[in-house]
Amino acid sequence: MDTTIQPPREPNYATYQKELFLLSQKGSHPDFSTRPDKLEELAKETLSKGGWLYASCNAGIGWTDRANREAFYRWRIIPRMLVDTTARDTTTELFGHKINAPIAFAPIGINKIYHPLGELNAAKVASELNIPYCLSTAGSQPIEDVARVNGDGPRFFQLYCPHDEELEDSLLQRAWDSGFDVCIMTLDTWQLAWRHEDIANSNYAFYRGIGAEIGLTDPVFKERIKEAGLNPENQEDMQKIGEKWIDNVWHGKAHTWEKIPKLIQKWKKISNGRPFLLKGIQHPDDARKAVELGCDGIVVSNHAGRQVDGAVGSLEVLPEVTVGDKCTILFDSGIRTAADVFKALALGAKAVLVGRLYVFGMGIAGEAGVRHVMKSLLAEFDILMNCAGVNRIQDINKSHLRYVEGIGGLSGTL
Ligand code: FNR
Repeated sequence: MDTTIQPPREPNYATYQKELFLLSQKGSHPDFSTRPDKLEELAKETLSKGGWLYASCNAGIGWTDRANREAFYRWRIIPRMLVDTTARDTTTELFGHKINAPIAFAPIGINKIYHPLGELNAAKVASELNIPYCLSTAGSQPIEDVARVNGDGPRFFQLYCPHDEELEDSLLQRAWDSGFDVCIMTLDTWQLAWRHEDIANSNYAFYRGIGAEIGLTDPVFKERIKEAGLNPENQEDMQKIGEKWIDNVWHGKAHTWEKIPKLIQKWKKISNGRPFLLKGIQHPDDARKAVELGCDGIVVSNHAGRQVDGAVGSLEVLPEVTVGDKCTILFDSGIRTAADVFKALALGAKAVLVGRLYVFGMGIAGEAGVRHVMKSLLAEFDILMNCAGVNRIQDINKSHLRYVEGIGGLSGTL
């Protein structure tokens, strides 16, 4: 009879729990707690003031951030008993990639303000864990370098679409040439929201010349710098370059639905038909429109509550979004625990993106911090499946949940 606690299957993230308990035999313990509120507290202590403010800032007074968390609280999991979960399996398939869990790294800009190696920390860990890494156009490491550390890992490119078509072409081509095989266009950030604390501290690293690495390594943007008479060797010019970069790709004029078919066509041509997604969808009509125009997927997201204050929680709208079989729903905004992942999957998401959690880990301990946070989330998820009596990702559905009105004594941060 097999008396081992853990079944012989791979990946088996639940064993990370035992590994951490066993540290006690060496008189040791993990470097920090992954309880989300503790993690956040420690990140606040460890990060620079600017890093902390940028990571934690929300739109307005943060009610959307709060709504994101409240929405998770209202859905409750109903565990099932006497299910043989010995051979349970956290793996799934996403856009043709067999991945270890339905969890991916959300695109987060300018990671160098959290750790000197920035995006490289996360891209490396994502590859080790065989879960997708999504690089932001506002990333602070060149596309090619991120690809190198990500190796054979599945990787996606998040597009902040400039109004300069040559630059758009160049970014998409570089992403594809570097093995980013899914394009995710973010729609909710033509304009940075009013974020009180960042504004009160004039805290915008791009305007201090930090975070333009993707632009500085781009042949088209390098031309634009030259045309403007700016020289990246010159520190004073760097501030202008940072400003030019982010104002070019990110801020300014909105794109409209007319743009989408052209962009899909362009990406399909570059990538031989690989998936194109829209990120930032909250209204069912926008989801329908995305499907109509031929998007392969959408990301139901409100940018972690950083763009529209007083908005609905992202999880609140997830059950209302229907897209049919040809379109894949990803979800983000407010994921802090494995239970949150489970709930989003049960309400229709194929996979979730996680943002702030790994940023906090990176701020605390760079690559090791990202690894500990993400491995812990995977372990918690594996263990949750075990304890709730669920064997396969495709078995997670709404029958595992109950909706409960009200928010009880939920605190503002958890
Ligand atoms: C983001 N997000 C984001 N989204 C995007 O498309 N491009 C980007 O560059 C960024 N940058 C960014 C920075 C920071 C500090 C945060 C917190 C978020 C949004 C991100 O991709 C994702 O939608 C949310 O972070 C998910 O919510 P949680 O997991 O952070 O609650």
